[in-house]
Amino acid sequence: MRDELKKNIIQEFKERFPEKKFIPGQSAVPISGKVFDEQELILAIEAVLEGWWTEGEYSARLESELASYVGVNFCSLVNSGSSANLLALTALTSKKLPESKRLKPGDEVITVAAGFPTTINPIIQNGLIPVFVDVEIGSYNPSLESIKKAFSEKTKAVFIAHTLGNPYEIDSVAKFCEEKKLWLIEDNCDALGSEYKQKKTGSYGHISTLSFYPAHHITTAEGGAVLTNDALLNKIIRSFRDWGRDCWCPTGKDDTCKNRFNWQLGNLPHGYDHKYIYSEMGYNLKMTDIQAALGLAQMKKINTFVSKRRENFKFLSEQLSRFNNYFILPRCLPSANPSWFGFILTIKENTGIDRTKLLKYLNDKKIGTRLLFAGNITKQPYFIGDNCGHRIAEALQNTDFIMANSFWIGVGPLINREMIDYIADNLNDFIELSVKI
Ligand SMILES: Cc1ncc(COP(=O)(O)O)c(C=O)c1O
Repeated sequence: MRDELKKNIIQEFKERFPEKKFIPGQSAVPISGKVFDEQELILAIEAVLEGWWTEGEYSARLESELASYVGVNFCSLVNSGSSANLLALTALTSKKLPESKRLKPGDEVITVAAGFPTTINPIIQNGLIPVFVDVEIGSYNPSLESIKKAFSEKTKAVFIAHTLGNPYEIDSVAKFCEEKKLWLIEDNCDALGSEYKQKKTGSYGHISTLSFYPAHHITTAEGGAVLTNDALLNKIIRSFRDWGRDCWCPTGKDDTCKNRFNWQLGNLPHGYDHKYIYSEMGYNLKMTDIQAALGLAQMKKINTFVSKRRENFKFLSEQLSRFNNYFILPRCLPSANPSWFGFILTIKENTGIDRTKLLKYLNDKKIGTRLLFAGNITKQPYFIGDNCGHRIAEALQNTDFIMANSFWIGVGPLINREMIDYIADNLNDFIELSVKI
């Protein structure tokens, strides 16, 4: 890129996005948000100037960087974390897999009800049955015992997210899946950078997924990725992603198979152009090169982002531990090193704290809060009725408690110590005002 243009972008960045000082009571304490500098703008504009725009070299580079960061062989970029989840599960229905392994309508998939809707929806969208297990309060993940108890003759897969970046006992879950010959999909959308036993989450399952929506650890505006170690699964994932085509040429390339006009598949005539042969009922869920350029600039900052999340988590834990009588603080397993997505608090029983009143109070003080996604998904309006067949494997007691009493606050790189002090002061004021009187 020409030096003059680069200089102008740097200047433009400084003018448009000046550093803002935190003013308690006036500035927002964000729940999350993108962190970027002139590098994202320079790379994205470079990608625009290349004139290619759809999936291309920037995408290939980002795929390779993500695969090596997570520690897997293959990565396919997609247009959202929800698309990543849809592809991860749909790939397992492919006829390219052995008959005994392929997911078929009526098969069961173990998951949690205290989750994000688009972890669960692909199960139903593929005619499979979600089987819900309860989660533990504090970790907000299911125990291995719960997963084991939910197993039935029909169980074919486990598809669970590392809640708010907090790893579940993924090595034991992977071992259980191996014993029972189950697929394991890790929804790693909220956990980029998290580790379990010094190995990255997203590298334990047969497939894992990521989201790059701005709330997440890195952002490409909208975006996501599907990762796997398995070459066949990778081929299937890319086929479903790219219209269901049988051809595996990268976008814009022809005849990678050196056999383009020589195939005979399905009931098509011999020699039908391989580019237009569809072996899966696919979608188009690709990411653009312009988004991938943003992602490449973000990957340069990933280690700083993850450290900042860990540092903020530590400081929040220290500052908020004085409210132990009122709130259950988040905790992780001894072997886990989470790259936290949010700092979750659960109001203890009989404290007299009304969650809605507290959240409104914090909102008035410009402190952002969120609930644990769908709460109990089986209670969501779209789930009521007969179009969302499911099985509840055990009483969802904790899930219901979380739905009524939990909320989370930001822990991302936009949060600083002043904000954390401000959060603690306001929690204290709320308790003084509405509980102690
Ligand atoms: C656990 C989990 N899975 C999937 C998604 C979906 O990601 P996206 O918003 O990129 O579609 C989210 C969204 O935040 C999420 O938290």
